[in-house]
Amino acid sequence: MTNRHIVWHDSAIKKTDRQLLNGHKSCVLWFTGLSGSGKSTLANAVDKELFLRSCRSYVLDGDNIRHGLNKDLSFSDDDRKENIRRIGEVAKLFVDSGQIILSAFISPFHEDRNLVRKMFQADEFIEIYLHCPITVCETRDPKGLYKMARSGKINNFTGISSPYEIPLNPEIVIETDQLTIQESVDKIICYLVDNGVLINY
Ligand code: ADX
Repeated sequence: MTNRHIVWHDSAIKKTDRQLLNGHKSCVLWFTGLSGSGKSTLANAVDKELFLRSCRSYVLDGDNIRHGLNKDLSFSDDDRKENIRRIGEVAKLFVDSGQIILSAFISPFHEDRNLVRKMFQADEFIEIYLHCPITVCETRDPKGLYKMARSGKINNFTGISSPYEIPLNPEIVIETDQLTIQESVDKIICYLVDNGVLINY
């Protein structure tokens, strides 16, 4: 609950002013999917494409944020909830600053993702579900974590000992075991053009 003696101070520069300066709208591209489904890889590839097009964008990555802002959080259901809530608030600041924010978090629960969705205007929150069978994620196992989870060295591991709730109505679905990275990037950029986030591209 916010203290009633804390009063909101309106910014002199509005979000729309910043978007005008940047030449594109601001929004959050919310990548969700299992560990190893390609969230960080794809978020960074889209970020690079946006950078080349002179857009203001930035990646928030689960592993990286857990080194700093969220280093106090575990992988319990409650801590994952708090992880996602904080990222939602950070993403909201970035969107207010006129930027395109790419967030790469497993974010396994409907309730937590929907809570973040509600922080934004309808067209500002773009949920991107990276669909990839766990068998493929497990074969990729870039950090060797699935192996450790299977042998009981990591608890509450998503897809093994902790659930992943598949998004019901994501704006974009990418089958990362079927498409190349470039095809996936193109699909997302097309969505941004078709939906008026990127103008004159
Ligand atoms: S989330 O569930 O709270 O959204 P987040 O995206 O921040 O997770 O962090 C996931 C990353 O932490 C994974 O990519 C993986 O590298 C690492 N990790 C460590 N332990 C776990 C675990 N128990 N479950 C899932 N990922 C884990």
